[in-house]
Amino acid sequence: MIGPNTDSTLGRPKENRVLENKKILLIVAGGIAAVKVPDLIRRLRERGASVTCILTKGGSQFVTPLTLASLSGNKAYQDLFSLTDEAEMGHIRLCREADILLVAPATADIMAKMTVGIADDLATTALLATDKPVMIAPSMNVMMWTHPATQANLQTLKTREVQVIGPGAGDLACGEVGDGRMAEVPDIIAALSRHFQKSRGEGPLQGYRAVVTSGPTHEPIDPVRYIANRSSGKQGHAVAAALANLGASVTLVTGPTNEPAPDGATIVKVETAAQMMKACSEALPAEILVCAAAVADWSVAGQTGQKIKKGDKAPALKLAENPDILATLSQPGPERPALVIGFAAETENLITNAQLKRASKNCDWIVANDVSTGSGVFSGDANTVHLITADGVEDWPTMAKRAVAERLAERIAKFAERNL
Ligand code: PMT
Repeated sequence: MIGPNTDSTLGRPKENRVLENKKILLIVAGGIAAVKVPDLIRRLRERGASVTCILTKGGSQFVTPLTLASLSGNKAYQDLFSLTDEAEMGHIRLCREADILLVAPATADIMAKMTVGIADDLATTALLATDKPVMIAPSMNVMMWTHPATQANLQTLKTREVQVIGPGAGDLACGEVGDGRMAEVPDIIAALSRHFQKSRGEGPLQGYRAVVTSGPTHEPIDPVRYIANRSSGKQGHAVAAALANLGASVTLVTGPTNEPAPDGATIVKVETAAQMMKACSEALPAEILVCAAAVADWSVAGQTGQKIKKGDKAPALKLAENPDILATLSQPGPERPALVIGFAAETENLITNAQLKRASKNCDWIVANDVSTGSGVFSGDANTVHLITADGVEDWPTMAKRAVAERLAERIAKFAERNL
C-alpha cells in the first residue's frame, strides 16, 4: 500500500450507526463456516445490534451453544420441543421479535428445507413461521453449490425475496477449490447495513462526506485571456451525482463548465487552480476525496492586471507551477480524507504512468483514462477506465461516464461499508 491508509483507517462517521438496536435472529446451521460465527456476533454487538442464536443439530458440531450464548449475551436456542425454551420464548415470539433472520452458514440442506417449507427443527420452524426479512450466507462444497437442485432452490428463495450474500470462491474446507465459501464477516455486516439503510430509505454512504473536483481550471493570462483545457466536467459531475445518490453529503468544487449542478450536492464554483485548492481545503474534513478535475499544472506568472497590448512580437509567457491539489490533500495528517481517489489522464503508457502517479501523489486509488487524440474522453459522453488500487488493476469496459461514476460510487460504498 503506497498511501498511508490501510482499509481499517476509514473511520465510521458517528451518525452511520445503522445496526444499532437492531435485533438479529442468527440461525447457525451445520457447516465448517460456523467457526466464523463468534467473530460475526462480536462485530454485530460492537455495532449495537442485539443477537439471539438458534443452533441446529449440525451447527452444534462446529460451535457450542455456550460460546454463542456467552458472546451474544442471550440464550442460544436449540430445541423445538424443549419445554423450558418454549416456556421462556416460544418459537413464534423468537422470530416475531427479530428485525431480520440471518442464516449463516446456510447449508444446502437448510436451503432445500426452506424451499419446500420443511419445519422439522427449531431453525426451520422459525424460518417458516417468520414474517420478517430473511438473509442467507450459503456455505458448502462447490459441487453441492453448483448442483442443479441447489441452484433451483436458490432461485426459488430469491423469488421469495430471501436476500443472499455470497458465497465467495476460494479454497474450501473439503480441500476443493471453487464457489462455496461463506461470505466474509465484513461482507455480511455490510449486507445487513445495506438492508437496514434501504429500509430507512437511505443510501449506503449516508453519513459520509465527500469532496469531488471537476472540470477544467482557467488560468488568466491577462484580464481577458486565459489558459484552459478541454475538460467538460461530465465525469466529475457524474461522480458527485452518483455519490450523492448513495446518500453521501457531497461538496462539488468545479471549474467553469456547462454541466448542470448535480442534485443533492453543494456546489462551489471556482476558476483557477489556486481557488480550487482553497475551496477544497475549506470543504474538508471529509472521509472521501475524488479529484476528477483537469487542473492546470501552470499559471501565468507576473500578471500586471492590464490587457497585454499587441506589439511587434508575440509576448513570451512565463509560467509558474500551480499547487497540486490531490498531492497536497493526500499528505498524511489529521485532515487527510480516509479514501483519496485521483484520476490519471494519460496519452501513453497508461497503466504504468497511472501507477507512478498513484504513488507520487500518495492517493489510495487512481482511475486511469486514455485521453489521446481520438479517444473522445475529454468532453465526450463515454469513458474506458482502469481502477488502480493497492490490490492491482481492474479493467472496466467502455461505459457512459454516468455508469463509470455509478460503478465507482458503488466501489466506494463497498469499501466504506467493509471498513465501518
Ligand atoms: O471533464 P470531462 O470532459 O468529462 O473529462 C474527464 C477527464 C478526462 C478530465 C477525467 O476523467 C480525468 O481524467 N481527470 C483528471 C485530469 C487530470 O488532470 O489528470 P492528471 O493526470 O494531469 O492529474 C492527476 C490527478 O492529479 C488528477 O486527479 C487531477 O485532478 C490531480 N491534479 C492535477 C494537477 C493539479 N495541479 N492538481 C491536481 O489535483
